Amino acid sequence: MASYVAAIDQGTTSTRCMIFDHSGRVVSVDQVEHRQIFPKAGWVEHDPVEIWTNTRQVCAGALAKADLVSSDVVAVGITNQRETTVVWEKATGKPVYNAIVWQDTRTDEIVNALAAGEDGQNRYQRKTGLPLATYFSGPKVKWILDNVEGTRERAERGELLFGNMDTWVLWNCTGGPDGGLHVTDPTNASRTMLMDLERLAWDADICAELGIPMAMLPEIRSSSEVYGKFRERGVFAGIPISGILGDQQAATFGQACLSPGEAKNTYGTGNFVLLNTGTERVISENGLLTTVGYKIGGNDTVYCLEGSIAVTGSLVQWLRDNLGLIASAPEIEQVASSVEDNGGAYFVPAFSGLFAPHWRSDARGAIVGLTRYVNRGHLARAVLEATAFQTREVIEAMNADSGVPLKSLKVDGGMVGNELLMQFQADILGVPVIRPVVAETTALGAAYAAGLAVGFWESEEDIRSNWAKDKQWDPKMPTELREKEYAQWQKAVSKTLDWVD
Ligand code: G3P
Repeated sequence: MASYVAAIDQGTTSTRCMIFDHSGRVVSVDQVEHRQIFPKAGWVEHDPVEIWTNTRQVCAGALAKADLVSSDVVAVGITNQRETTVVWEKATGKPVYNAIVWQDTRTDEIVNALAAGEDGQNRYQRKTGLPLATYFSGPKVKWILDNVEGTRERAERGELLFGNMDTWVLWNCTGGPDGGLHVTDPTNASRTMLMDLERLAWDADICAELGIPMAMLPEIRSSSEVYGKFRERGVFAGIPISGILGDQQAATFGQACLSPGEAKNTYGTGNFVLLNTGTERVISENGLLTTVGYKIGGNDTVYCLEGSIAVTGSLVQWLRDNLGLIASAPEIEQVASSVEDNGGAYFVPAFSGLFAPHWRSDARGAIVGLTRYVNRGHLARAVLEATAFQTREVIEAMNADSGVPLKSLKVDGGMVGNELLMQFQADILGVPVIRPVVAETTALGAAYAAGLAVGFWESEEDIRSNWAKDKQWDPKMPTELREKEYAQWQKAVSKTLDWVD
């Protein structure tokens, strides 16, 4: 009897497949990294064909590692790096250009031109919940249509399809050119800057203003329903695909943040804090995004406020790959622990400009406070502390928007194994930080969405009862020191603005 649910997690640095049992425990994982393509400063691309090849490989790998066959799996969910944009030929499945990644800032001019009107950066905020920024998919689609010859005309004729990574993976899993489903869910659609948040429908006016033919947009369905089945040949043949959630929304769901006021912070390539606001769409006055949290079948839409931070875990990779200061990512904890504090150094990783709460595409990274005293340990510490300081910035914005200060923070993702970072996070926030037993909540959330649709799990109560605490870090830093450190950080941030003309 089929007794497992699988999730495909198509992330920024890798693609994974994870298989879960009914208690939400991980049964197996397979993971493959893909190339990060940097054609110019500020540009970041992925090869969608490489990602599709990796997707098939990790699905087969996860089954093999658990000694399972496809029919042991009752349903598959998809979760993904959001905003990353692919345009491909419907007839062949061939992308017309590489995927433009969420971190890419090439749409700077498009965005600035759109922001020139009287509402400035908030031109589409009421409708879409988003400020104008290079982060979102809409301007990236426009860039492709403006720059790759003949694509706008072909898109108008219905020959080209647009999708974020969820749609690209789903279309390929369900047959590609042979009847592949061109579908997305509202969590992903809410990141395009093309969807009306209230109606969960593409907005014709915004599409027209960006010159994006609506014929190329996927159909928006719920986050949890049977969309279709895997193609008849290959891995998971004939198994239903029944859940789609953007990765940060999936982590929110997997963390059981299912009631208004509950929040989580995922430590991945970037950090993303999401606060469940229930069925209310809270429009931020403090630099946060309003986004769809999830829509389970025909249930009401649940919304979130989101603080998106572009660079956290990827700063550790940068230290490893671009500077060679550490040999592996986990080594950073040991190097950072060789010193008592940051030695006066602060590292603001504004590599893609600054996201929430600043939304400044003109910012660029800086290390400030350097003296001859500063060594490798201090720099490693400043790198870790940057993640915690940036998190405090978005939590402060959230507290201001909601009027209710957060009492504790649930955490998940790759960096939450780092004890030094977790203690510093609790210290700098002044509230407890709590890690669940299953810290891979992104894939788990997508598995829950898929499993709910086919009755493998009955209700959201199953998700609540599966959630269990692993560890809690309580704040230990004296208040005066906490505030002094944070003030220094804010000063450091101010040095990074207005860098690009
Ligand atoms: O919005 C970008 C986000 O979805 C990327 O997440 O985990 O791939 O860094 P991650």
